Amino acid sequence: MTETLDIKITKAEQTRLAVTDFSELPFGKVFTDHMFTADFENGEWKNLQVLPYGPIPMSPAISALHYGQAIFEGLKAYRQPDGKISVFRANKNFERFNKSADRMSMPAVPEEIFMQGLSALIQIDEKWVPSQENYSLYIRPVMFAMDPYLGVKASDSYKFVLLTTPTGPYYSKPLKVKIETEFTRADEGGVGFAKTAGNYARSLYPFEQAKKEGFDQLIWTDSVTHEFIEEAGTANLIFVINGKLVTPSIRSTVLDGVTRDTIIKLAEEAGIEVEERRVSVKEVIEGIENGSLTEAFAAGTAATVTQIGEIGYKGNIYTLTDSASRTVSNGIAQKLNDIRYGLAPDQFGWNWVL
Ligand code: COI
Repeated sequence: MTETLDIKITKAEQTRLAVTDFSELPFGKVFTDHMFTADFENGEWKNLQVLPYGPIPMSPAISALHYGQAIFEGLKAYRQPDGKISVFRANKNFERFNKSADRMSMPAVPEEIFMQGLSALIQIDEKWVPSQENYSLYIRPVMFAMDPYLGVKASDSYKFVLLTTPTGPYYSKPLKVKIETEFTRADEGGVGFAKTAGNYARSLYPFEQAKKEGFDQLIWTDSVTHEFIEEAGTANLIFVINGKLVTPSIRSTVLDGVTRDTIIKLAEEAGIEVEERRVSVKEVIEGIENGSLTEAFAAGTAATVTQIGEIGYKGNIYTLTDSASRTVSNGIAQKLNDIRYGLAPDQFGWNWVL
């Protein structure tokens, strides 16, 4: 049996609930009253605590700031019809967190610290879990290197933090995306599969360029030929081609998305054929032109299922089918939501009801 950990609880003197407008919740800007933190020092995790959300004292020399030894995750908690709260596929995010930690030479966070910290935090801030349709509590686990040392080496000390933020979907409308053929997000043998800060940092410049051209998001291609589609950086990509669900296979340059995996399982359950394989830019562009590609969407925890409306490639814009008419992805998205919000049976055991 897993032992119950000793988590120190310090309650916020005042809640910010009364001054928070739940009808206006931009992604990642409004934080709940508390956070969870733990420290890795001298080879062990200690100081487990739930405390008021706020600044964390740290040296300006910590190696996370200088050399980017930092990883994170994203998962969500949903309000159930009976008022309880359920966290979706927490185990998958926990496993991926430690995969990222391993690649970045960081210590694993023990499962009981991750899960019991999460449970303690959500329970103390349980009133912050929204109940409006399509809203949820976004949970952001993060770990960063704390050694105040300017030499380049894996740190000996780390901080693990859980933050929570009530939110709606990351994107509010179908996306206009650009297939990127100059810059790359990740390279073979690199850290593309890890959820580490640098992957996001290197995407910012190309993303800003694309925004100036009127795009909402990039579609990254492979670093060698730029002929194969990888992912969107904030989400995985899924297409419907000739009635089959087609998605780029997971490789060292692509994040193994939990929402992607969930959608694959739901599609298979619904009898839809799924292909995880390399997807070429040519196939996508020709598919739009000849009508064999009928749907395209981004899939991620923050993004949920976000339809792609237009794709830019080498100066041309390709317009996809009207997103309301997309029966495959809209059907799966509905099923996914119903399970997460406790409106349909959870036959895969994905919901962790607290
Ligand atoms: C998530 O979907 O949880 C993510 O981490 C994407 C984020 C970069 C917005």
